[in-house]
Amino acid sequence: MRARQRRLMSKTAMADSMVLTGIVLAIVYWALEALLNIFAPAEIGFYRNLLGPNVGEMSMRIIALCLFLIFGSHVQFTINQRNKAEQALRESEEKYRNILETIEEGYYEIDLQGRFAFVNDATSRLLGVPKADLAGRNIREFLNGDSDEKLSATLAGCLASGRSVKAFDCELLRQEAVRFIEASAGLRRGNGGEAVGFRGMLRDRTEKKQLELDLLESSRKLQNARSATILGLAKLAEYRDEGTGTHLERIREYARLLAEEMAARPGAAEAIDPDFIEELYHSSILHDIGKVGIPDAVLLKPSGLTAEEFEVIKCHTRFGGDALAAIESTIEGRSFLQLGREIAYHHHEKWDGSGYPAGLKGREIPLAARIVAVADVYDALTSRRFYKEAFSHERARAIITDLRGSHFDPAVVDAFLNLESRFDRIREEGQAVERLTAEAGACRPGGRLAAA
Ligand SMILES: [Fe+2]
Repeated sequence: MRARQRRLMSKTAMADSMVLTGIVLAIVYWALEALLNIFAPAEIGFYRNLLGPNVGEMSMRIIALCLFLIFGSHVQFTINQRNKAEQALRESEEKYRNILETIEEGYYEIDLQGRFAFVNDATSRLLGVPKADLAGRNIREFLNGDSDEKLSATLAGCLASGRSVKAFDCELLRQEAVRFIEASAGLRRGNGGEAVGFRGMLRDRTEKKQLELDLLESSRKLQNARSATILGLAKLAEYRDEGTGTHLERIREYARLLAEEMAARPGAAEAIDPDFIEELYHSSILHDIGKVGIPDAVLLKPSGLTAEEFEVIKCHTRFGGDALAAIESTIEGRSFLQLGREIAYHHHEKWDGSGYPAGLKGREIPLAARIVAVADVYDALTSRRFYKEAFSHERARAIITDLRGSHFDPAVVDAFLNLESRFDRIREEGQAVERLTAEAGACRPGGRLAAA
């Protein structure tokens, strides 16, 4: 449509220039003719003047007549073309206006100060103000929170770069209610190409935003329910030999601290991302869930274990890993149970390959299991058990440091040593809770699995 209009306008300009040329030529011709008549003899009559004193002048008059006919045609052509162009322009504007008034999205035009120059019906509905009442009002009157600064920065960017911004979020106030808007903005230019304001679209995303918030809230509740269920499941196994202590809560805190410390260390050999840390936090407490399959006579035996009994104890890794693998197989896609399975199977492996059940060595042992191994042993050493008293933090630190590179991954031990004051604080807080619970008569110390 615009190309057609441009073609029409160029033809019109050409016709205009031709008409002007014709008029100039006619004026020059008749001026010369008038001069000739002034100095012509008086006896020359009307007919001679009309037909010309000679063939040459007659020819000139015929040429002038032809030129007038041509110019007249072009004048008519020009008028017709202008009418057509104006009609096309009116149709185009009508179509453009109909589109703007029927779309669901708001359309706005503002001047450089932000005052409304034009809005469509949807913008009027969005702002809750009749179109007539919006004339001259500033769009900033309707912005909420920091949206004023955001809009100002966006418009300044448009003005500086000349480029449009396709989407930016802002909040509008409609009769005290906040509407979440996705807006766009681009420059409006005058006939000389200078910036005269901005135009753009306003899309109401309030319902979508509310759905997103509801979804996030549902997800958060689901996550909390899942965490509580996992913790409850793990505690059922834990109660068999370690009573109602806070061992599991401490284990997951230790594991998360170690993973965060390792992730933050520059040049770490293994990449650790936030998802891994989150999954480790939830799955670390499942490390000893397999103890539900160990007979009480072995699990709760107060004296030392025979070689056969120790072999039975070792089975808790396989029982737990198999149980989690079975649950994992019923879940579509990847889940935190994959990490839980690795931890349950391998948290008793040792860095030098002397651990169980698979005798894995070094980085063959899953990273999560290497991290939980340090967390589990530290907590076992610093907790009271039915076969020993709680070691001090310093004694536990010394033992773990001695086992660096033999039992434990050196990188995990290094992270532990960097964090030892925080481990000590978590230990103290956890044991304070346990003392209060014990005074209420609910806790009995126990557990031999971390030391096994
Ligand atoms: Fe264990």
